[in-house]
Amino acid sequence: MHHFHYSGSDLHCESVDLAAVAKLYGTPTYVYSAATMEDNFRRLQRGLAGLDAQLCYAMKANSNIAILRHFANLGAGFDLVSGGEIRRVLAAGADVKSSVFAGVGKTEDEIALALKNEIFAFHVESEPELARINHVAGKLGVKAPIAIRVNPDVDAHTHAKITTGKSDNKFGIPLKHAAAAYEAAAKYPNLAIKGVQMHIGSQLTSVTPFVEAVEKVAPFAAELKAKYGITYFSIGGGMGIIYKDSLASGQQAWWDAQPADKRPLTPETYGAALVPLLKPLGLKILLEHGRFMVGNSGVLLSRVEHLKRGAGKNFLIVDAAMNDLVRPAMYESYHEIVPLRRDSSRRALTADVVGPICESGDCFAKDRPLQEVGEGELIAFMSAGAYGYAMASRYNTRGMAAEVLVKGSSFELINARESFEQIIAGEKVPAFLK
Ligand code: LLP
Repeated sequence: MHHFHYSGSDLHCESVDLAAVAKLYGTPTYVYSAATMEDNFRRLQRGLAGLDAQLCYAMKANSNIAILRHFANLGAGFDLVSGGEIRRVLAAGADVKSSVFAGVGKTEDEIALALKNEIFAFHVESEPELARINHVAGKLGVKAPIAIRVNPDVDAHTHAKITTGKSDNKFGIPLKHAAAAYEAAAKYPNLAIKGVQMHIGSQLTSVTPFVEAVEKVAPFAAELKAKYGITYFSIGGGMGIIYKDSLASGQQAWWDAQPADKRPLTPETYGAALVPLLKPLGLKILLEHGRFMVGNSGVLLSRVEHLKRGAGKNFLIVDAAMNDLVRPAMYESYHEIVPLRRDSSRRALTADVVGPICESGDCFAKDRPLQEVGEGELIAFMSAGAYGYAMASRYNTRGMAAEVLVKGSSFELINARESFEQIIAGEKVPAFLK
């Protein structure tokens, strides 16, 4: 469920008319619903009731400091992956103490920054990394809390670029070598073994791979508890969201109409399948969901530049582009596209929805059935709250889009559109070219 809906003919986020946001801040602009994020957080919490569970929101999905603050206020920690993300948590006025640090290539400086801010744990992906963390902790005279990321070799049945738990991915240590890695970790004087971690992939639409992975790793977690006194098991993130039917899925009626065996994955079914497997471990359970927390909480607003009618093909050229939302170009992913003003008297249109960037990959949708819209009219890309702004770039010297957060009938700019001066601020022509 989410808080994007038509009120009369006009698309709203909570009680805010999205056309008013576009008028004030221009386009392309990301708009997020604080209520949807809170709802997602609470549903996940309820789904896992009975466990000592803690969300470490995977902030790579959307790391705007307002959103970090919102999740911190709700009680979340963070799953972070760089020194920059540590600094974002601090800039949000939140705490690194309940956050975990993942990633295959943490630098010495990043490790030191995490230790100085009392990170909850490092999620270690290789044996050389154990040595590096031990070395940095020794220099600082502290013990570094660690958990090893184990790779359970489970097929997450998701896009190849976002599956992470197969043995041919770069992530984690294969389960069969993990015991030896823990033995190695136990010998380092400056490491403290705290837990075990796994993450099998992103945008999972069935609970089966999660169950398979937990069943594989849980006996090992129990062994580690007995041997090293670990206190937690992080089962990663990866819960998928609805991209097709994204708008309708905001309404309870849509859910009621889904046949029981075709229902998309929900935090309720996720919890019902996993709680009985995890509870007997008696460990704290960390969750690292990113997409589920924010994906359906955000849309990207865009304005139509032209409707170009070609030979046997129509192109709807809009002012957002692959630099603003790269997921369709990168993963062939689907985002629902809807008009901000719904008008049943309009004709239907089938068009490729494209941005103005000079390459054919700058395409959001092919042969998409739409309501006819023309120059100056507004559209929204649905389910763009996760890995939208976070993966944006300045390609074609297009500044980063604006971001707005809605709460009830209030909305505020949480990130101003980037100016040309900001884009080139670090650039200069060297003396030898002058
Ligand atoms: N934990 C770890 C260790 C991860 O690598 C990731 C995501 C997550 C948690 C969060 O996964 P989520 O709950 O968001 O599925 N850019 C891609 C997704 C990349 C995910 C990378 N790792 C996309 O736009 O689909």
